[in-house]
Amino acid sequence: MLSVSGIGLAIGGARILNDISFELEKGKMLGVIGPNGAGKTTLFNVISGLVRPTAGVVAIDGQDITRTAVHRRAAAGLGRTFQTSSLFPSLTVRENVRLAAQAALGGASSILRRPGRSDAAETAAFDALAEVGLEERVNTAAGDLSHGEKRKLEIAMLLVADPKVVLLDEPMAGVASGDVPGLTEVIRRIHGAGRTVAMVEHHMEVLLGLVDQVAVLHHGEMLALGAPDEVMRDRTVQTAYLGEAA
Ligand SMILES: Nc1ncnc2c1ncn2[C@@H]1O[C@H](COP(=O)(O)OP(=O)(O)OP(=O)(O)O)[C@@H](O)[C@H]1O
Ligand SMILES: [Mg+2]
Repeated sequence: MLSVSGIGLAIGGARILNDISFELEKGKMLGVIGPNGAGKTTLFNVISGLVRPTAGVVAIDGQDITRTAVHRRAAAGLGRTFQTSSLFPSLTVRENVRLAAQAALGGASSILRRPGRSDAAETAAFDALAEVGLEERVNTAAGDLSHGEKRKLEIAMLLVADPKVVLLDEPMAGVASGDVPGLTEVIRRIHGAGRTVAMVEHHMEVLLGLVDQVAVLHHGEMLALGAPDEVMRDRTVQTAYLGEAA
């Protein structure tokens, strides 16, 4: 479903990513780990089209999207969240999701249209909010949500486009420990609905409880790739990453 092969990125002589490859089957979840600055977010930027790689191919469901514009990737079935929050804090939860739904369904110009009560955007927004369990918070300003709820809202905003492949960049970052189980459950649910997911996450307990495969990045290289227990037992991973983190 998601295929990344031989991805390289060189910026001004610096090699940010070097020969990164993995295949993720439909409905599987990949965890991406590695120290700060390893290239995890940059890899997601390449997959989502914000950064163009200097080598390699990205494909979704067999379709080469390496040179596809960012907004066209949503139509190809790709959705992502960002490491830093991307909400309109003064708008309500419902308004945030509705804007995302209008953009996804009708292109940017439809945002200017007067919203009808029962149109497709409203339905998509409602379904997405139900999927992440934020129905009770629809009239709350996004800025007044807890960090955990903000992350759920960001996930709802990508679900409106009904993506086949979802990229989550550190969903647990800044989330209070009490909110971690609820947010973990939401991720499990969107994955359980048949979506293919790749997730960068420093919270190892959460990550290992969710994923089928782990990729370890280190200085822009793929240090290890495989089943979670296999990768966590790997000596090079322990010294290069876990040793450093400890
Ligand atoms: N546009 C750019 N120009 C130059 N260097 C860049 C650019 N984008 C990223 N980098 C560098 O690439 C490296 C990887 O950064 P990246 O943000 O992908 O790391 P990360 O693994 O996501 O780290 P973190 O865990 O801190 O989020 C860093 O050294 C960063 O400074
Ligand atoms: Mg990052």
